[in-house]
Amino acid sequence: MMLVACPLLSTAAGGEVEVLHFWTSGGEAGAVAKLKATLRNDGHTWKDFVIAGGGGGQAMVLLKSRVLSGNPPTAAQIKGASIPEWARTGTLSSIEGVAAAEKWDRLLPKIVSDTMKHKGVYVAAPLNVHRVNWLWVNASALRKANARFPATWEEFFAVADAMKKAGIAPIAYGGQSWLDLGAFESVALGVGGPDFYRKAFMELDPSALNSPQMEKTLETYRRIKSYIGRNAVGGDWVRGTSMLIKGEAGMQLMGDWAKAEIQAAGMKPGIDVLCGATPGSANAFTFNIDSFAMFQVSGENRAAQNDLARAVMSKDFQETFNLAKGSIPVRMDVKMDKFDECAQRSSQDFSKSAKRGALLPSLAHGMAQPSQTVAAIWDVISQFWNQDRMTAAEAMAKLTQAAKAHAAAPPK
Ligand code: BGC
Repeated sequence: MMLVACPLLSTAAGGEVEVLHFWTSGGEAGAVAKLKATLRNDGHTWKDFVIAGGGGGQAMVLLKSRVLSGNPPTAAQIKGASIPEWARTGTLSSIEGVAAAEKWDRLLPKIVSDTMKHKGVYVAAPLNVHRVNWLWVNASALRKANARFPATWEEFFAVADAMKKAGIAPIAYGGQSWLDLGAFESVALGVGGPDFYRKAFMELDPSALNSPQMEKTLETYRRIKSYIGRNAVGGDWVRGTSMLIKGEAGMQLMGDWAKAEIQAAGMKPGIDVLCGATPGSANAFTFNIDSFAMFQVSGENRAAQNDLARAVMSKDFQETFNLAKGSIPVRMDVKMDKFDECAQRSSQDFSKSAKRGALLPSLAHGMAQPSQTVAAIWDVISQFWNQDRMTAAEAMAKLTQAAKAHAAAPPK
C-alpha cells in the first residue's frame, strides 16, 4: 500500500478539491490528469489523495479513518452500493443544486441516477461506465495459436490449449484478490446467464447459490487456474495487462480499464489487442460506474466541490476522460464517433442489454451489494481459488451461509 498526498497548484481565488482515488496505473493516471487540468482551469487547487492497489479496497479503509477523524476529503471514488452506506452516516453533501441546474435526471440512464442519489437527492457524480465482462486477446498470440476469438467457455479452453502449445502463457492473471471475484462473476454470467446472475448475486437466492449452475461455474472457474503461466501469477492487474500487450500472455479477463493501458502502450484496441464479451456473455453487460461521492466541506471549498461535480458531468469532459480511461460516457448525449470499436460496441451493448433486462451491476466492483456482503462472498471465492482441496459443494455451502448471514443482518 502506498499513500501519496501532494498539493499541486494553488490559486488565491479558488477553493481546494481533495479527491480520494486509486487511479495509479499509467492509463488511469493519464485519465485523471484530464480532470485535474479542468479543475485548475476553473481556478481551484487539486489535491491528490491517492491510494494505490487497484479495485479500491485499501482506499475505503483509509477513507473511513479520515472521515471518522472529522477530516473528510472533498470527494471520494466510491462505488454504487456503498454510496447509500456512506449517506446513512450523515457525512455526504448534497449536490442537488448543480444536478438540477444541469438537468442530470434527463442526461443519465435511470439505473445510474438512482445510484447517485440518497433519498432522492444527488450526493455523488458519475464519471463513466466501465464494462466488466470483457475478454482481451492479443491478436498476434491468437494468430500464432492458429485460433479464433472464443465465444464459449469450451472454446476459451481450446484456445488456451492452442496457446500453450504455441509456447504462450494462455491467461494473464494477477495476485490481487479482487481479481478473483471479477473473473468469477464473468464465469457465472457466461455459464448461468443473466437470470442466474441476478438470482445469485443480486437477490442472493439460496436456490441459485447452491445449484448445478453454481457448481458448473465453480468448476469452470477453477479450470482457468491451470492455464495461468507461472510468470503470470503474483503481480497486479497492470502487470497482467502488460504481459498481454507484449504477447507474453494471450488472454486476460478484465474490465475495460485494461484498454487504457493498451492505448498508453501505443497499441490499437480491437486490432492489436482484440476485445469481446467474456465467453457466453455477449448478450449481457456487467457495469461498474466510477463516481465521486461528495463529503461535507465548507466555504470556498464548497464552491470548488460544486465545480467538480459540474466538471465531471460536462459533455466535453465525459468525452475526453472516457477516451483516456477505456470506459464509455455515462451521459446519454455524448457522440461515440471519436471512440474506438471496443467502446462503440460497449455503448451499443449497454443499450441492448438494458432493453433485454441484462444490464447487471457488477458484484466484484461494489455495484450489486453493500461492501460487507461483497467482502463475505469474495472471501469464499478467494478460498476456493487458493485452496485446491475445497470442493464446489463446500464452496456453495459457504456462499449460501455468507449470503444468509448478510440477508439476516443488513449493514446499518
Ligand atoms: C475501477 C476502475 C479502475 C480499476 C482498476 C475498478 O474498480 O472502476 O476505474 O481503473 O478498478 O483499479
